[in-house]
Amino acid sequence: MQNNSNKPKLDWDTLGFSYIKTDYRFIDRFKEGQWEEGALTTDNKLHISEGSPALHYGQQCFEGMKAYRTKDGTINIFRPFENAKRMRRSCERLLMPYYPEDAFVEAVKKVVKANEEFIPPYGTGSALYIRPFMIGVGDNIGLKPAEEYLFSIFVTPVGSYFKGGLKPSNFYVSTYDRAAPKGTGAAKVGGNYAASLLPGKEAKERQFSDAVYLDPATHTKIEEVGAANFFGITQEDTFITPQSPSILNSITKRSLMWLAENRLNMEVKEGDIYIDELDRFKEAGACGTAAVVSPIGGLQVENDFHVFYSENEVGPVTRALYNELTGIQFGDIKAPEGWIET
Ligand code: COI
Repeated sequence: MQNNSNKPKLDWDTLGFSYIKTDYRFIDRFKEGQWEEGALTTDNKLHISEGSPALHYGQQCFEGMKAYRTKDGTINIFRPFENAKRMRRSCERLLMPYYPEDAFVEAVKKVVKANEEFIPPYGTGSALYIRPFMIGVGDNIGLKPAEEYLFSIFVTPVGSYFKGGLKPSNFYVSTYDRAAPKGTGAAKVGGNYAASLLPGKEAKERQFSDAVYLDPATHTKIEEVGAANFFGITQEDTFITPQSPSILNSITKRSLMWLAENRLNMEVKEGDIYIDELDRFKEAGACGTAAVVSPIGGLQVENDFHVFYSENEVGPVTRALYNELTGIQFGDIKAPEGWIET
């Protein structure tokens, strides 16, 4: 970033995952049954009614994606139409109006462009995190959907989500549930994440990176890793990830499934991952926009500590998946049709 203004100079190589205020955000308001014409603003504060359903009843949802600086300086936005579609599903689950896909992607591009100087340089491994969100607002107290909504997109430069990035970290199986079997686990809504704060804190107090959640109905199968999806690589080189109606349908995970099958010639499956069958796996990891591909070194299951590939080194398949994914995102490897918007 050029430091020709009064902005602080950012150290791109040591960015963590925290909020850094950027210059512009997009904001639009839904009123009387339709969206207004959204616009960019420099104001990062929202002024909303104390009765807003988002505040009391959690009527809100959000998304996460990233923009990447490539070697030649152009900007790649990774699969934003998929985020637009997923946000529509979240909105539908909470009876909120959705933001049309084309308008969503156009707004994402506007915000990214307006904050271009905050996109970390190529080679740092860091990227610009894009956070669209929608909240139900207005004077309210009864439990009913809001009549007015705000849709906004802000961006912030980020590095690794889990300390160490591609270095493995350890997790533990929580006794808490993240979501109910037919609840909102598949929707990207704040309530799921608020519910994970306490298990996450307990995990960190025990020196683990985060909590792993089992399926809420039987507590026998792995569902999620903190705020990320789980994947395992079997001894036979099959990529397996849980199939469940209560996990978030990660776009990163879908991308890894495609890459495993089409670029690494692996077998790919969605299925049950029983917690008492961890020996099936030679590698395991967490994946998501923020987590990217984060290897799981060891997993504490009650009194047993199970090591997958190694507590210190990333396994070769996880590394190959990481290289394929980030190679596409940073423009070094040819992307499948429709994966990159510029
Ligand atoms: C993401 O991976 O984009 C998320 O929304 C997870 C969040 C906890 C940062």
